Amino acid sequence: MAKLNSAAVAQITEICNRYKDEKTPLMMILSDIQNEYGYIPLEVQELVSEKTGISVAEIYGVVTFYSFFSLTPKGKYVIGCCLGTACYVKGAQQVIDKFCELLHIQPGQTTDDGLFTIDALRCIGACGIAPAVSINGKVYPKMTVSQVTETVAQYLIAEEKLKEAAK
Ligand code: FES
Repeated sequence: MAKLNSAAVAQITEICNRYKDEKTPLMMILSDIQNEYGYIPLEVQELVSEKTGISVAEIYGVVTFYSFFSLTPKGKYVIGCCLGTACYVKGAQQVIDKFCELLHIQPGQTTDDGLFTIDALRCIGACGIAPAVSINGKVYPKMTVSQVTETVAQYLIAEEKLKEAAK
């Protein structure tokens, strides 16, 4: 979605219109766009601004404040590592560091092959199973550093199988 084609313009316009009767439609509009496209680049924010009358500055502020929204495309697998207090005291920093080491990226970045994104999250409501990691919404409880290695390996093996099956 680097340059908006007419189909994207039409769809984003439709999403904006969907919430035109709402008093505070911005979060709903941005959520729908994030779900539909996977990210919300500046040109989309400008179009939303044009359609809703909400300033680009306000839209940009919301997109960059909430980790659910992204300015750039996310990977096929989005690894959310909770760094909230309960997770942090149970070793969440070592867990996210291991993901970063194995995938050669930092939190907020995506691997060059587009497979993985690592996000540092605040409490995801799973403190009882800290440290918690979520991958595409699936929660992994009590994650350990050695389980990080196993988990990444499982995803890579699954990807290889998909590639083989597609040949
Ligand atoms: S602090 Fe991690 S789930 Fe609550």
